[in-house]
Amino acid sequence: MNIILMGPPGAGKGTQAAKLVEKYGLKQISTGDLFRKAIKEETKFGVIAKYFISFGYLVPDDFTIQMIQEYLEENINTEEFKNGFILDGFPRTIIQARKLADICSMFNFKIDAVINLDIPEDVLVKRLSGRRTCADCGKSYHIVYNPPKKEGVCDACGGELTQRSDESEEAVQVRIDTYNKQTKPLIDYYTMLGELTNVDGNQSMDEVAEEIYKVLDNLK
Ligand code: AP5
Ligand code: ZN
Repeated sequence: MNIILMGPPGAGKGTQAAKLVEKYGLKQISTGDLFRKAIKEETKFGVIAKYFISFGYLVPDDFTIQMIQEYLEENINTEEFKNGFILDGFPRTIIQARKLADICSMFNFKIDAVINLDIPEDVLVKRLSGRRTCADCGKSYHIVYNPPKKEGVCDACGGELTQRSDESEEAVQVRIDTYNKQTKPLIDYYTMLGELTNVDGNQSMDEVAEEIYKVLDNLK
């Protein structure tokens, strides 16, 4: 089973993807995480992505598409992908969505569902300003909604919890505006193709997860 998880910044894509990895054994492919890893390792994609991400803009389509294509070429036949995958944060533009259709034919897979996490803007800001991410393993927390057992320390690996470079108030607003302009049109795009399912993202993490499980269990 291969799915696309869509939604604005802070909607809970990463949080729900982690639950789906656990429940269905899917592999999460987060373009945001791939870019952050590339930035840390100072690869060609990292050098380009750093500038765009820090200001809250999208990384240009051609680089993003090239990165995901190279990633799939290297990984799609590995054991981790045997149950399928979750695309978290890709596609984010109509151009990327069209290219994804080509990539599907190239690697011989299909997308079984597109889940859109629907959520009001004021909630996004609260979620993003309270998020803390483990510098070592990438696990995400929230200081109010999902706090770690010990303040500032990752439950999973003991790493230090930090704020991302794109979580300043200005960058968050740019990310939301960028989403509205460039990514939101994908809702119509996938609705027209009859592939989109909206899920109310403004519920507790477990309630959102239950709604997604229902959608995915109906596909079987
Ligand atoms: P990316 O890393 O994908 O960031 P994003 O889409 O802005 O999404 P986030 O990771 O911020 O939020 P999320 O929806 O995963 O929410 P989370 O689960 O963490 O991308 C970063 C940047 O990379 C982009 O801005 C762009 O520059 C670049 N990029 C990435 N992909 C690209 C592409 N395809 N093309 C071009 N550029 C690209 O939750 C947020 C917080 O809320 C957490 O603290 C969490 O604990 C809490 N929370 C989650 N769910 C709930 C709930 N139900 N109730 C209460 N709290 C909750
Ligand atoms: Zn950790």
